[in-house]
Amino acid sequence: MSTIPNKKPETGAFFPRDRDWHPPALALGYKTTILRSPQKALLSMDGTLSEITGPVFSQSMLGELDNDLIHNFAKPGESAIGERIIVHGRVMDERGRAMSGVLLEFWQANAGGRYRHKKESYLAPLDPNFGGCGRTITDEDGYYRFRTVKPGPYPWPNGVNDWRPAHIHFSVFGHGFAQRLITQMYFEGDPLIWKCPIVNTIADKRAVEQLIAPLDMANAIPMDARAYKFDIVLRGRRSTFFENRREGN
Ligand SMILES: [Fe+2]
Repeated sequence: MSTIPNKKPETGAFFPRDRDWHPPALALGYKTTILRSPQKALLSMDGTLSEITGPVFSQSMLGELDNDLIHNFAKPGESAIGERIIVHGRVMDERGRAMSGVLLEFWQANAGGRYRHKKESYLAPLDPNFGGCGRTITDEDGYYRFRTVKPGPYPWPNGVNDWRPAHIHFSVFGHGFAQRLITQMYFEGDPLIWKCPIVNTIADKRAVEQLIAPLDMANAIPMDARAYKFDIVLRGRRSTFFENRREGN
């Protein structure tokens, strides 16, 4: 009998999403969900190859400054205005295993809370040296890291006087399309987090706490940047690959 392990990648279906952990599609306190949410009951369908597989990303597709928002839009010799920070962490699946080759894209307002977007209407100024988006890919141990400036809070039209806490948007591509995660990272100690109607669509306080990155001075760079740590968990595979070996080997 062969004792060579089967090296084929896992192709099992993913764990179902926990809909009590994620926010509901319709949340009346967050007004635009009224138009965005489905009008009919959702259907449950088995995952097929198009959901359980996805594109493969390699470090070679990245530009030199893709993970440096302080410089990736700045004129030569200049840099973005704001509090210089490092955001870093680990991407893993629900079984706690590191996920390599995961594409993370991130976008954010500038230090004054203003986006570089044609529909942006907040009066805070644009920073000519800040674009507000970047990307990186996790290494073989699932780690990622990028530099940026801390985004400012901004007001938004919802209630009479609603403000978003400082946040960074993330899009995460894992190993299958069904693992795709769009989320936001918040900053430890921000009093606006618990007042935010978008944050408050999440029912479980522990789920909100997982979106708040703690200050991580151990990974700060003295006289340069503070660090925040943000780990990300994607859906895990329901089954492991079949290993063609005897028990105990
Ligand atoms: Fe935002």
